[in-house]
Amino acid sequence: MGQQVHMYGEVDSTQTIAHSLVGAGAFEGTLVLAEAQTSGRGRMGRKWHSPAGKGIWMSLVLTPRIPVYFMPQLTLLAAVALCRSIQQMCSVDIGIKWPNDLLIRGKKVSGILLESSGEDERLKYVIAGIGISANLKTEDYPEELLPIATSLAIESGQEISREQLIQAFLKEFEDLYFLYSEQGFAPIRLLWEALSVTLHRPIRTQGPAGIIEGIAESLDDSGALTVRTADGARIKVFSGDIELR
Ligand code: BTN
Repeated sequence: MGQQVHMYGEVDSTQTIAHSLVGAGAFEGTLVLAEAQTSGRGRMGRKWHSPAGKGIWMSLVLTPRIPVYFMPQLTLLAAVALCRSIQQMCSVDIGIKWPNDLLIRGKKVSGILLESSGEDERLKYVIAGIGISANLKTEDYPEELLPIATSLAIESGQEISREQLIQAFLKEFEDLYFLYSEQGFAPIRLLWEALSVTLHRPIRTQGPAGIIEGIAESLDDSGALTVRTADGARIKVFSGDIELR
């Protein structure tokens, strides 16, 4: 991973650049990095705050040989790699909120956005977009983000080397991606469960047929979250956001 690195100053989104590099023949492992993004994007159409020089805004090109419906597994794999690499770099109490938000003290410090292209259930490629709020200070956040977002520097009290963190992430990701290709999702699921701040906690989410409330019980083979409701029913949540209660 990261054999080819494309570094930019300010871009609209590293995701957009990575998609066009694939169109131009980029291989698996190609990494796009930017100092700043003017239109950084997050999950569910949200914006991603990406000020210059303060964070890691990157997109990784992947060409996994898996069907489209296994994509959520890849998201969970990326979350584990990210969590483990951050743990190596600084001493923070970090955990994964399903499916792939990294939280410290309940605030988001990093997010993952997977975008794919494929036809008829076959994935052509995936762009794994990763945002890490590494060295942002309180004053770097817009007011509305302060209650929900934080950075590694704020939480650890130390400046983070972005280069070292990127290297650590690429190594972790490569190892887990290899493990996944050899042994499938089972070992990744165990690692994810150990880092989760979601399992065994009460959660609430909007399902297709209304609000779902209950205890987050387990992760299934597809990466979906099984929630046990007060009346004992088990409901699977495949996508969207959950609220930890
Ligand atoms: C989320 O938590 O909603 C996902 C955030 C993903 C942000 C990263 S920053 C690098 C890459 N480029 C983007 O435009 N988004 C991702």
